[in-house]
Amino acid sequence: MVIYKAKNDQDLSRKSANIISAQIIMKPDCVLGLATGSSPVGTYRQLIEWYKKGDLDFSRVTTINLDEYKGLSPDNEQSYRYFMNKNLFDHVNIDKARTFVPDGLEPDSDKACARYNEIIRAHGGIDLQLLGLGRNGHIGFNEPGSAFEKETHCVDLAESTVEANKRFFASEEEVPRQAYTMGIKNIMQAKKILLIASGEEKAETLKKALYGPITPAVPASILQLHGDVTVIADESALSLID
Ligand code: F6R
Repeated sequence: MVIYKAKNDQDLSRKSANIISAQIIMKPDCVLGLATGSSPVGTYRQLIEWYKKGDLDFSRVTTINLDEYKGLSPDNEQSYRYFMNKNLFDHVNIDKARTFVPDGLEPDSDKACARYNEIIRAHGGIDLQLLGLGRNGHIGFNEPGSAFEKETHCVDLAESTVEANKRFFASEEEVPRQAYTMGIKNIMQAKKILLIASGEEKAETLKKALYGPITPAVPASILQLHGDVTVIADESALSLID
């Protein structure tokens, strides 16, 4: 595992965008596993800037997102599909037909999840998976529990996740209580993993994830078993790690 300390948000975003760019340059038809939330916004902004300068070409890239709220349509502003369009896809030359997000409108969870696992398999797996870190240690929407879930599944969101994510909604009641998410096995099968985290509220979880016992109670702790993880975090998030 390689850990980079970022000076500030901008530095964090540049460092993580650098790793994603390197992936795209080394393998123009790569499969990127992408995340939503606050953490990757600056990274996507930086990638857009480099694309506009002519330094990056997304035309052969495939993207497979981690998760989507169950019940939200792509044009719902809180859906992760909408987020991805707004924060990245609408601004680069990616072929949208090659951008995948779980189908939040599919009410049959088994169908939605089986289809998504098939998409991941059909594309030969993920070359580089970008991850944010949930305050409770979740990755994707793999919430703390008693077992690691393997593949794409439907989750009941933890109360703490609903609480953390309500900032994106008009009210807490509007936050969906379920989501479709890639499983831990899908994530661990990615060839490379890039975990980004910033802010003091992530410090304790980051320490547990990187150095604590490997346990489904802290889903991100499984990353200790992956052979190619890069962590980019700011000083506050790393403040409890020497
Ligand atoms: C988002 C996702 C989540 C977030 C995590 C951190 O697609 O899968 O695991 O990465 O909740 O969110 P932020 O970055 O908003 O702190």
